[in-house]
Amino acid sequence: MATVALKIHEVVKYPDPVLARPGAPVTVFDRALRTLVAEMFESMYAAQGIGLAAPQIGLSQRLTVIDTSFKKEPKDKLVLVNPEVIARRGTQLEEEGCLSLPEIREKVKRDAWVKVRAQNECGEWFEVEGEELLARAMLHEIDHLNGILFIDRISRLKRELVLRKIKKMQKLGEW
Ligand code: NI
Repeated sequence: MATVALKIHEVVKYPDPVLARPGAPVTVFDRALRTLVAEMFESMYAAQGIGLAAPQIGLSQRLTVIDTSFKKEPKDKLVLVNPEVIARRGTQLEEEGCLSLPEIREKVKRDAWVKVRAQNECGEWFEVEGEELLARAMLHEIDHLNGILFIDRISRLKRELVLRKIKKMQKLGEW
């Protein structure tokens, strides 16, 4: 079998408008989609992330990949196509970051446990439950598919401080 080098996609940064746009449902489950999923995992690992949503590589589609163990546990590799949160419980407050907001970290309130219904890369529906980091990762990535960033979920004051920091970095050519 021929091996084709997977493309590493560049992660788009805030304030790219694609990050604020809700993604369109994925309707075609073909080989191109499975290649894209493989490329998203590689792009996520290259960027040292544990989650990557399609809008972050400029594709406004409801597709995200997650690996909370960062390659340590193959079973932790999770592909969520057209995901929806169908149950949630409790709250957690932990620091969060995002590949589209490098160097920004803030505490974000999230559900402590969630159940998500999604399709895999072959179009089969399944349910996945997660708590703590996995719940946080799924909620963060599903937010991306709805055009929401974690800085949209912090206080207005903290958000203004973050935006000021970003402007400063932009001015220094560091963003
Ligand atoms: Ni993110």
